[in-house]
Amino acid sequence: MRHTFTLANGVEIPAVGFGTYKAAADNDEAIISEAIRQGYRHLDTAAFYFNEEAVGKAVRESGVPREEFFLTSKVWRDRLGYDSTLREFEESCKKLGTDYLDLYLIHWPRPDDLTAEWKDLDVETWKALEDLYKSKKVRAIGVSNFLPHHLNNLLERTSIIPMVNQLEFHPGYMQKAAVDFSQRLGIQVEAWSPIGRARVLQEPLLMELAEKYQVSVAQICIRFALQCGVLPLPKSSSGERMCQNLDVFGFNIEDDDMHQLMTLPQLGWSGEHPDRERVKL
Ligand code: A2P
Repeated sequence: MRHTFTLANGVEIPAVGFGTYKAAADNDEAIISEAIRQGYRHLDTAAFYFNEEAVGKAVRESGVPREEFFLTSKVWRDRLGYDSTLREFEESCKKLGTDYLDLYLIHWPRPDDLTAEWKDLDVETWKALEDLYKSKKVRAIGVSNFLPHHLNNLLERTSIIPMVNQLEFHPGYMQKAAVDFSQRLGIQVEAWSPIGRARVLQEPLLMELAEKYQVSVAQICIRFALQCGVLPLPKSSSGERMCQNLDVFGFNIEDDDMHQLMTLPQLGWSGEHPDRERVKL
């Protein structure tokens, strides 16, 4: 398996990225520096993670050239709209200390107020992303947490098909309808919480497969995403586990095992759904 995916516009993206959300409360920079030392070049952040400055500093201080990194950020749900998105993009670049991003995403399809009119807002926001892309300030543009009806709204009213859709994805919460719909359109699906925020580590099937393939449960989850054509963005605060999470190209999960993983009952869901109030689990 190749260690990159290729987006619809030809841009190559490292096949495993590092999720920086709540990397470690007040220790983000050290964690991100460690991830870079362990070999991560694809770093996923967002305005809402409040760590773009830490990511930027870790990148600069790594000594690794900027062009070797793939940096993603996202516009937060309470900043949707054309002008505010352009402003947010500039703000993210400034905090990251870069003059371009590799990927910029709409973080959620709806504002915090779920009853607000989201369709026009998404279209305006997407038009801002299209303009940023056309002016080469960003190498690829996409969305996050978009279900088929959110995507359709963009497809009907704008011209560029998103290149990425980042979704919660792990054994026990695969969002098949959204993944299939995205993949049919040539949209690269990325997985946030590919290990189900550690909620799936005790699942007996996963433990059995970890034993069978002589890897960890986390490695099964990450490899599972890759074999589904989905780009995993695991998080970890430990150098050893960061390293382990990148070491997923030396084994292959057999078809029957993949099917068992795909048909697990719901497990480890975060409680987040783009059209609903968050469920506390
Ligand atoms: P830790 O920071 O102690 O490594 P997700 O990426 O699905 O949100 O999951 C993140 C959670 O999974 C964190 O709690 C992290 O804990 C844990 N985790 C990450 N990698 C591994 C691993 N290789 N083995 C066990 N737990 C892991």
